[in-house]
Amino acid sequence: MTKKYGIIGCGMMGLEHINNLNLLDGAAVYAVYDPIDSLAKGAAHRANGAQICSSIKELASLPELDALVVVSPNYLHVDNLEEISMHCNLPILCEKPLYTNPMQEARLTHMIESHTAPIWVAMEYRYMPPIAQMAAQADAVTGGVKMLTIKEHRIPFLPKVGDWNRFNKNTGGTLVEKCCHFFDLMRFITQSNPIRVSASAGQIVNHLDEVYNGQTPDIWDGGYVIFDFENGARAMLELCMFADGTLWNEEISAVGPAGKIECRMPGPHRFWPTDIGPPPNSQITIAPRTPKRPVTTDVVIDHDLLMAGDHHGSTFYQHEKFLKVVQGHGQVEVTTDDGKMAVKMGLAAQQAALENRVIHF
Ligand SMILES: NC(=O)c1ccc[n+]([C@@H]2O[C@H](COP(=O)([O-])OP(=O)(O)OC[C@H]3O[C@@H](n4cnc5c(N)ncnc54)[C@H](O)[C@@H]3O)[C@@H](O)[C@H]2O)c1
Repeated sequence: MTKKYGIIGCGMMGLEHINNLNLLDGAAVYAVYDPIDSLAKGAAHRANGAQICSSIKELASLPELDALVVVSPNYLHVDNLEEISMHCNLPILCEKPLYTNPMQEARLTHMIESHTAPIWVAMEYRYMPPIAQMAAQADAVTGGVKMLTIKEHRIPFLPKVGDWNRFNKNTGGTLVEKCCHFFDLMRFITQSNPIRVSASAGQIVNHLDEVYNGQTPDIWDGGYVIFDFENGARAMLELCMFADGTLWNEEISAVGPAGKIECRMPGPHRFWPTDIGPPPNSQITIAPRTPKRPVTTDVVIDHDLLMAGDHHGSTFYQHEKFLKVVQGHGQVEVTTDDGKMAVKMGLAAQQAALENRVIHF
C-alpha cells in the first residue's frame, strides 16, 4: 500500500522532497502545510493535488498519514517537532540542522524521548552517489582513514523565503547551517567522534551590502575548520562561498597508510553555465600507494534524479531508505544522536573561530 506523507514547509527544499517522493514507488505526498498560502498551493499542485492544511496541528492530526517531513527554516525545527509529537506519533524525516541554539537541546531531547516513532535526520550528503561510493570504499583503499579533507567551493547562500538565512540567529550560523553536513560526513567516514576543534572563519565577502529591516546580514561565507577524532584521524573543512565560477563544488579526499581515495562533484545543474557545454560527471579517483596507479572513474547519476533537485539524487536515495522505515522494515540510518552531534560540532567550530581557541569535546 502506498505510504502517505505530510510536508511541513513548502519552500525550495520542500519542493525537492515532493519532486523526489513523486518519483518513488510506494510513497505519495498526501497533505502539505506552509504559512504562506501561495507556496502551499504551489506545493499541493506539484504533489498532484495534495490536501492543503492550515496548521501543523491539522496536518499532524490527519488519520490517513503514515509519515511527516519537516522542511521549515532551521530555527523552527524544534518547535515543529514538539508540535507534531503533541498530535501524532508518526515517523518523521527532519531536515538538518536538528536545532540551532544550545538552549533548544533539552527540549529536543525531551521530544525525542516522548516520540517513540522513528525520527530520521535528513543528511543528504551521505546519499550523494559519489560520496556514498567513496565512504563505502574509504577503509579498504586507505587502510584506515588518517586524514580527511572536505573542500566546498560554491555560490553564495541563495535567497530564502523571508530572508531567514541571512542571520545567524535563524540558521544557527554557517558552520551549523550548511557545514553540519560536512561534520556528519567526517564522523561517517572516519567512523569516530571528535575530541577537539580549531577554526578560522568569518564573513569575508558576501552579503555585506545587503540590508533587511535595517540590519546587515551576519552570516559567514568562508573558513577553515580542523577536527581531531578519538581514533587518531584528522579532518579539515575548507569552505568558500564566493567561488561562483568553480569547476568542482565539492572535493573530498581521504588518505591512509595504504592509499588515497578522492571524489569530485560539480554544483547543482541549474547553476552550470550551459553555454560552455554540459557540466562534468562526478568522479572518483582511487590511488594506492603501491603500485602507483591512480584510476579515475565517472559517477553517472540518473538524469531524472538530477533534475528533481540540487543534490545529485541524494534526496531520492534517502527517501528510498526512509520509506523502508515507514513500511516498518528498515533501520534509521541518520539518528537524532547523529543530528545532534553534527550541530554540536558546528557550534563548537564557530566558538573556536570566534574565541580564537581550541574547543575540547
Ligand atoms: N539537506 C540539504 O541539502 C538542504 C538543502 C536546502 C535546505 N535544507 C533545509 O531545508 C529547510 C528549508 O530550507 P529551504 O531552502 O526550503 O528554505 P525556504 O525559505 O525556501 O523554505 C522554507 C519554507 O518554510 C516555510 N515556513 C515558515 N514558517 C513555517 C512554519 N512555522 N511551519 C512550516 N513552514 C514554515 C516558509 O514559508 C517557506 O516556504 C531548512 O532547514 C534548510 O536547512 C536542507
